[in-house]
Amino acid sequence: MEYERVKKLLDSRGQSQLLKYYKELSEEQRAVLLGEIEKLNFSVVESINNSSENKNLENIRPICVKSVGDIEENKDVYTEEGLKLLRENKVAAVLLAGGQGTRLGFDKPKGMFNIGETRELSIFGQLMSNIERVTSQSGRQFHLFIMTSAENNGDTVSFFKENDYFGYTADKIHFYIQDTEPACDFNGKIFLSEKHRVAQLPNGNGGWYSSLINSGYKELLEREGIEWLNVFGVDNVLQSICEPAFIGATSLSRSLCGAKVVKKVCAEEKVGVLCELDGKPGIVEYFEMPAELNNMRGADGELVYCYGVILNYLFNVKALDGAVAEKLPYHLAKKSITHIENGKPVKPQEPNGYKFETLIVDMFEYMGSCLAYEVVREKEFAPVKNKVGADSVQTARELLKRNGVKL
Ligand code: UTP
Repeated sequence: MEYERVKKLLDSRGQSQLLKYYKELSEEQRAVLLGEIEKLNFSVVESINNSSENKNLENIRPICVKSVGDIEENKDVYTEEGLKLLRENKVAAVLLAGGQGTRLGFDKPKGMFNIGETRELSIFGQLMSNIERVTSQSGRQFHLFIMTSAENNGDTVSFFKENDYFGYTADKIHFYIQDTEPACDFNGKIFLSEKHRVAQLPNGNGGWYSSLINSGYKELLEREGIEWLNVFGVDNVLQSICEPAFIGATSLSRSLCGAKVVKKVCAEEKVGVLCELDGKPGIVEYFEMPAELNNMRGADGELVYCYGVILNYLFNVKALDGAVAEKLPYHLAKKSITHIENGKPVKPQEPNGYKFETLIVDMFEYMGSCLAYEVVREKEFAPVKNKVGADSVQTARELLKRNGVKL
């Protein structure tokens, strides 16, 4: 009976291939498959032909930035305010570690990658030592949420355990698995990852807050009175996390979020740019920025849109609750998706379909106000994106060494 209902649903959605192997399955496997299909969000997949990737840039303006110089002048006031909030337990951090890290080509979670040269130093280890700098200054450990994916959660949790949580209090670290969306081929047909499993992939880093709430952490946030969340990416090994001056400056500016930015090295640098869109803060990704705006220079010869984000943001929790109620748009990412074909698993080398992602950069326009907080890139920005070349293991190692980290 249940089968009939699901079959009807799939026929009406043009997805009947999901039942191709149904007859071969055990009773248990059939129940798993039907259960997964019933929970699927078909509308995401059906949006492939009308998803608009283009932001409206008609009313784009550069954003006012708290520059490195401004920050230096008020550093003590900002730091004091940030330390106060940290000591009152009002700030927690969220590490985004649910990505696939395909560009690095490492088959474990990216955070487990060893960036040491003469010693073992994982990316996670380096981030935890950056955290330690702040907790020893404030004298208080903050809650740290770590978002993983269904695929890398087991390895990530075991790695932290094996490393004794890098000296952090285990009870203050909370792992959660990010939500997924179905993956499909270029014609919108959803893949099977096994004969009885629908292919589902992490829903992009924009899913970080809804996944946190769906994982049941709302209660902890409320019980502990956490007002701010410092969200950061796994790849930037130099960044400081829950930096008191950043927290203090954002809170004192009465903004509902803050974003660390660096001056772009050149117009072509592949970072999102923080600006104002229709009078609200917004981030325009490098691939969305028309060349004419990207290369525009002011009277001083500087790029007009020169402030790139580094995936280190501070969000006010109350404002986030409003923002997640708004629907973030889905972006299509072309990926190589492992799936079942003619009864066998296929692992393509080239992209063969779409993954659906919401992006954290799209959250800003719902926040209403944002403090752009400039940091010195040589001290705060060393992303490990690629194996070699720009933003690679090699460039990150160089920057770490220049900042006195023994590798
Ligand atoms: P990237 O955009 O670099 O994506 O993620 P990625 O999947 O890690 O790497 P590539 O593109 O396949 O090489 C930026 C940050 O967002 C996190 C990543 O872990 C990283 O910290 N992220 C990304 C998630 O947590 N979930 C996602 O679904 C995607």
